[in-house]
Amino acid sequence: MRTIIIILAMAVSAAGADKFLGWQSCSTTGCHGGGSGDDQVLTWQKLDRHSRAYGTLISERSKRIADALKIAEPAKSAQCTVCHSPMESAAPERIAKNLKAPNHGVSCEACHGPAENYLRFHTRPDVTAAQRVAAGLRDLDSSHARANSCVGCHGNIGAELLTAGHPTLRFELARQLVEMPPHWKDFDQQQSAQAWLVSQAVLLRELCWQAAKNPGTARRIEALHWILRESADGAAHLPPTVEPGPLRTSADTLAKAASAVKWNTAKTRAQFDRTAALASQVKDAAAFSRAEALVPALRALTLGLGKDAAAKAKTQLIALDLAIRSPATFDAQKFAGAVADLASVVATRP
Ligand code: HEC
Ligand code: HEC
Ligand code: HEC
Repeated sequence: MRTIIIILAMAVSAAGADKFLGWQSCSTTGCHGGGSGDDQVLTWQKLDRHSRAYGTLISERSKRIADALKIAEPAKSAQCTVCHSPMESAAPERIAKNLKAPNHGVSCEACHGPAENYLRFHTRPDVTAAQRVAAGLRDLDSSHARANSCVGCHGNIGAELLTAGHPTLRFELARQLVEMPPHWKDFDQQQSAQAWLVSQAVLLRELCWQAAKNPGTARRIEALHWILRESADGAAHLPPTVEPGPLRTSADTLAKAASAVKWNTAKTRAQFDRTAALASQVKDAAAFSRAEALVPALRALTLGLGKDAAAKAKTQLIALDLAIRSPATFDAQKFAGAVADLASVVATRP
C-alpha cells in the first residue's frame, strides 16, 4: 500500500508544488463546459466513472472492503482516496485557497496536471506546446505519456486490498481508452497495438519496482516478460532473464521506443498471428498468468485491425474474457479453442 501512495505522491508532485484549482475552474462556458467551447466537463460528469469514483467509496461494497481492513471511513482514508479521489489526500498547501467546493473523484487535474500556472494562458495561440508543459500541463500526446498517467492508479493494488474484496485491476491502454468515454478527438485505432505494447511495458516497469515488497507480482512479471519478449518489438529490448532490477530499466526503454513506432494493418496482422500462436505455450492451469497476458494483447490487436474486425469478433472476445475469469475454472484446452475461434473470425478472407 505504502508503495502505491509513494508512486502517486510522486505523480502528483511531478509539476513541482503547483496548486490544484479544481475542475470548476475548467468548466466555464466557452472553455471546457460546453456552450460555444468544448464539453469535456459534461462528458466527465455525466458519463465517466472517474467523476463517480468518490461516490464508490460511500457504497455498501466499499464499506465491506473497509470493514475487512479496519478502516472506519473509506472516503476519508488515504488508502482509498489516493486513487478514488486524490485531491482528498493531497497536501493542504497544494489546494488553491479559494477552492471551496469539494473536488471529489478523479478530476481533470489528476490526469492533466495541477492548473495553477497554466490555467490563464494555455489556450493562447502564441503559447507553444513546450511552454504549456513547462507550466505543468501534462503532455498526454504520446502513448508513453498516457500510459504513465494511468498506471499509478490502474496498474496494481496491494494484496491486502484484494483479500478484502477489492476488484482485481487490469491495465491495458488500448481497451481502456476505448472504454473511457472520450472527451478528445478520435485516436487512430490502427495504433491500438502500440497502446497495448507501451502500456504493458510501463506496467512491467511498475511491477518490477514493487517486486521486492510485493511477492504477489512475480507471476505477472513473468507473464509480461514472456509476452513482450515474444512480440517483435520487445525481443530487441528485454533481457532473457527475469531480474526486476535490470528488467525495470529495459522495460521503460522498450516503452519509450515502442511509443515512437507507427503501426499499420500489415504489422498488426503479423503480430496478431504471432500472438495467437502463443496459445500453444499455455499448456495447463499453471500457465494461467500467461493466458491473462494473452487476452488483452489479442483484444488490442483485434482493435488495431479496425472497427469492422472488432465488431465481428465481439462474441469471441467475450468468450476469451470469460475463459480467464478465475484460475480455479481455467481450462487450457478450451482457452486454446477460444483463441483459434477469434483467429478464424478476424482472418482475412479472399
Ligand atoms: C488518480 C487515479 C486515476 C488515474 C490517474 C486514472 N484513473 Fe481510471 N479509474 C480510477 C478509479 C478509482 C476508477 C474506478 C471508478 C469507480 O467506478 O469508482 C477508474 C475507472 C476507469 C475506467 C472504468 C473501469 C475500467 O477499468 O475499465 C476506465 C476505462 C479508466 N479508469 C481509464 C483510465 C485511463 C485511460 C487513464 C489514463 C489516461 C486513467 N483511467 C487514469 C482512477 C484513476
Ligand atoms: C491503486 C488504486 C486504488 C486504490 C488504492 C483503491 N482503489 Fe478501488 N478501484 C480502483 C480502480 C482502478 C477501480 C476500477 C476497477 C475496474 O472496474 O476495473 C476500482 C474499483 C473499486 C470498486 C468497484 C466499483 C464498481 O462500481 O465496480 C470499489 C467498491 C472500490 N474500488 C473501493 C475501494 C476502497 C474501499 C478502497 C480503499 C480501501 C479502494 N477502492 C482503493 C483503484 C483503486
Ligand atoms: C482519467 C484521465 C483524464 C481525466 C480525468 C481527464 N482527462 Fe482530459 N484527456 C485525457 C487524455 C488521455 C486525453 C487525450 C490526450 C491527447 O490525445 O493528447 C485528454 C484530452 C483532453 C483535451 C484535449 C481534447 C482534444 O481533442 O484535443 C481536453 C481539452 C481535456 N482533456 C480536458 C479535460 C477536462 C476539462 C477534464 C475534467 C472535466 C479532463 N480532461 C479530465 C485524460 C483525462
